[in-house]
Amino acid sequence: MAKHGSISNSVIKRLPRYYRFLGELLKDNIVRISSRELSQKMKLTASQIRQDLNCFGGFGQQGYGYNVEELHNEIGKILGVDKHFKTILIGAGNLGRAIATHINFETRGCHLIGIFDVNPALTGVEVAGIRISHTSDITKFCKENQPVIAVLCIPKANTQRIADELVKLGVKAFWNFSHYDLSIDYENIAVENVHLGDSLLTLAYNTNVICEENDTDKNKA
Ligand code: NAI
Repeated sequence: MAKHGSISNSVIKRLPRYYRFLGELLKDNIVRISSRELSQKMKLTASQIRQDLNCFGGFGQQGYGYNVEELHNEIGKILGVDKHFKTILIGAGNLGRAIATHINFETRGCHLIGIFDVNPALTGVEVAGIRISHTSDITKFCKENQPVIAVLCIPKANTQRIADELVKLGVKAFWNFSHYDLSIDYENIAVENVHLGDSLLTLAYNTNVICEENDTDKNKA
């Protein structure tokens, strides 16, 4: 089996999707699935699926396909969903509150244990069952609770400084929603910069392509 650190980024990016699809199959009580069936559902080629899963030692059996529960569990382990990484969220504005409320951290390997905001008017307000703390309490909280992941929902101007402070306090990973691409200057720190707007721009580009093709077809007719 390949070491997790040696798996290509493109394979890692596909794993959450495998995990989600397999979870849905499990809910539908499907016990096993062939790579061909899985490929049809996921719109990937069967050989792509076999190649991806072979990176981790392969889970299928010739002529049987994949045991859905086993594969779901194995991919979950690879993704770390059984780890319950202690997570804090910084910035309890519109986005921060929506994320704290609507993202199921527990089923994705994370356990949200603290929410912080610089605005004193928010201190003590409850979101997702957690009382918001003032940012002045972050140092003490991190020393006592040692969170591993920080979700950043703050304006971009403050992002690098806050991230630097959190790294000094032992945080190892950032799920960064601020419109600032956190540089990965630190050793062994994981960063996921998320820009929902980039996804919309990709959609706009593809919409543009379709509309232009339609216009060309109309002009030909
Ligand atoms: P908001 O203004 O509703 O909330 C921001 C919160 O951060 C406020 O409660 C503020 O008091 C707090 N804050 C500011 N500086 C802080 C600091 N140093 N420490 C702790 N808390 C601090 O804004 P909203 O809508 O929640 O957006 C937050 C950020 O996320 C903005 O920068 C926005 O541009 C960005 N954003 C990113 C998206 C993405 O896809 N990546 C989508 C939507 C917003």
